[in-house]
Amino acid sequence: MKKVTTVSLQTMKKRGEKIAVLTAYDATFAWLEDQAGTDVILVGDSAAMVIGGEESTLTATMDQMLYHTRCVSRGVERALLVADMPFLSFQIAPQETVRNAGRFLAEAGAEAVKLEGGEAILDHVKRLVDVGIPVMGHLGLTPQSIHKFGGWDVRGRDEAEAERMIEDAVKLEEAGAFSIVLEKISAPLAEKITASLHIPTIGIASGPDCDGQVLVNYDMLGLYSKFNLKFVLKYLNLAEDISVAVRRYVKDIKNGDFPNQDESYDLV
Ligand code: KIV
Repeated sequence: MKKVTTVSLQTMKKRGEKIAVLTAYDATFAWLEDQAGTDVILVGDSAAMVIGGEESTLTATMDQMLYHTRCVSRGVERALLVADMPFLSFQIAPQETVRNAGRFLAEAGAEAVKLEGGEAILDHVKRLVDVGIPVMGHLGLTPQSIHKFGGWDVRGRDEAEAERMIEDAVKLEEAGAFSIVLEKISAPLAEKITASLHIPTIGIASGPDCDGQVLVNYDMLGLYSKFNLKFVLKYLNLAEDISVAVRRYVKDIKNGDFPNQDESYDLV
């Protein structure tokens, strides 16, 4: 078992070895994902949606993200552990960004942080890298800007936005980011950005040519059934399996079939 680091991800890109990334929000899932060979575990602010039942990621707070990151850190041995910085924890002043990002490393066991945005957050990225906090960038359909975008459509389809995204990616690399998530952009644009960078890109809904892929674990396990997402390959249908299991449990209790002798203790 060789620990994955921000440096080994660069080597994987050079070797053409794909990087497998999944989200996790608790120790149990983190342990299972880590032991199954996931390279990077991201404590996404998608926690607000899949754990918190919210409509977007905007309500995620520092306290919630620190809690989830701490839980996940107890399950991770090999993977690189990245914590998502929630809305307004990094957009205001670089000093505040350093203080908040530092808490993920010092208090919650993260090894890097992820920030959404391009040009507007470059000063923050530089500052974090300067003080030793590794940064993963995030471009494309950045969910914290959902109200600016006005919906969940593919980003970068118009030429000006695509050009800006390529420039942003290069600037993030120059600012010291060790990797960039590309979310919901066309496959050709993701391929172009990936080819323009020395650092690895991690795609979600952005085609097969990124250096790695990330999915929300609840989506790929078929556990979060609010949306039917074209880009998600469901490796299980856990929502269905859980529903069947819970129905059986309720029925067994109502019928008096559980617990029986096997699940009971004797006096001695
Ligand atoms: O919050 C999240 O889970 C994410 C990934 C989907 C990239 O940002």
